[in-house]
Amino acid sequence: MYIQSGFKPNLAIWSLRVCARHFTYPAHAPGPDREPPTVVRSSTITTITEDNHLADSIVSAEIRLPSADLKQDLPFFTGKLGFRLDQIFPADDPSVAVISGYGLRLRLERGATEAPGTLRLLQPRAAGFAHHTDTVLQAPNGTIIEFAEADPPLCQPETRHAFVVRRLVDEAPWVIGRAGMHYRDLIPDRLGGKIIASHIRIPDGGPVPDMVHYHTVGFQLIYCYHGWVRLVYEDQGPPFILSAGDCVIQPPEIRHRVLESSDNLEVIEIGVPAEHITTIDHDMELPTTELKPERNFSGQRFCHHQQANARWQPARLPGFSRRRTGILDATSGVADVQVIKSDSSIIATEINSHSCDILFSFVMDGSVSLKADQQPEQQLTAGDAFVIPPGTKTQFSEVSPNLEILEVSLPGAFTTNTHSQW
Ligand SMILES: [Fe+2]
Repeated sequence: MYIQSGFKPNLAIWSLRVCARHFTYPAHAPGPDREPPTVVRSSTITTITEDNHLADSIVSAEIRLPSADLKQDLPFFTGKLGFRLDQIFPADDPSVAVISGYGLRLRLERGATEAPGTLRLLQPRAAGFAHHTDTVLQAPNGTIIEFAEADPPLCQPETRHAFVVRRLVDEAPWVIGRAGMHYRDLIPDRLGGKIIASHIRIPDGGPVPDMVHYHTVGFQLIYCYHGWVRLVYEDQGPPFILSAGDCVIQPPEIRHRVLESSDNLEVIEIGVPAEHITTIDHDMELPTTELKPERNFSGQRFCHHQQANARWQPARLPGFSRRRTGILDATSGVADVQVIKSDSSIIATEINSHSCDILFSFVMDGSVSLKADQQPEQQLTAGDAFVIPPGTKTQFSEVSPNLEILEVSLPGAFTTNTHSQW
């Protein structure tokens, strides 16, 4: 499936961006920023209009590379790299050779004026790795040969701790994306690449022409702040509505698809690490026929927390209650997500600190004054976010009776210590 004209492109972008920052349109899909498809005929570039059904007329593809001497290039590509010779002509003095391998078709052509380019060859991580990823070869025709891992391990950077406050009222906090998508980066420095936290707003709802895809991540949360969105997940039953106050975690590589959203949808999205790979699964259809709620995805299982079924219990700070989401158990301790609310107005909490590597908070309702060691006091209201580093003393004061905070901790379990003085 690809994005079809007539759909709202902003939703399509969000549905993949919801966890993948750098997705681009499929090659043959129309989009607001795409140039019309073009075709090269001899040295003339002719613009093809979109109603020419260009894609329907293509049966195969090849990349042309220059070759000054096929006698040198062919042994390199076929003998050393393992490509297969498919065509060669003319017979008396060959000037063109077509080779193929690894899903790629190359046309080596004498007199071609293109640059020789770079060929990336992917290898398994297992034993027998012929070349390290820092190995680079050069073919006789000048093509650079790079080697890379076909399935690189997830890179989890060390957390670069920082005290972060991101206020909604800051000047121009929203980035207006393509076709009206609104986006706020809640942790601009990303703590050294360890985490990305985003506030995403989609004013115009409707069907979402998403594709089945997955993310290679360590942890991923979608919390629905306003509105609703209809989702479907691999082995987790039929599509369902994620309503305001509900959240899901997307375990590593679980296939999923966004189907539909309300107007004015707002979600808080957390991704760990900040940069991760999104892969389209062209083969799987959702929903899947089997229901496996306990399925293990790299040590985590799917979790859909519904506010309506939650019960409140005392929180780690006196005077506050929390509703737990089940994410601590579902992630085997990788992370926890709780909603914390004040039981009444609070003049000031005790001075406290925590031991958590990353403690991210998003104010969903009400107001609070946040005082922290070596930091100016900050008056926070709905839409504000903050990160408190481990060991940093903080204190809440002027807590409104309706204060509600989304709190995400990585790892899930940590201790809170109280202090008698700053
Ligand atoms: Fe996604």
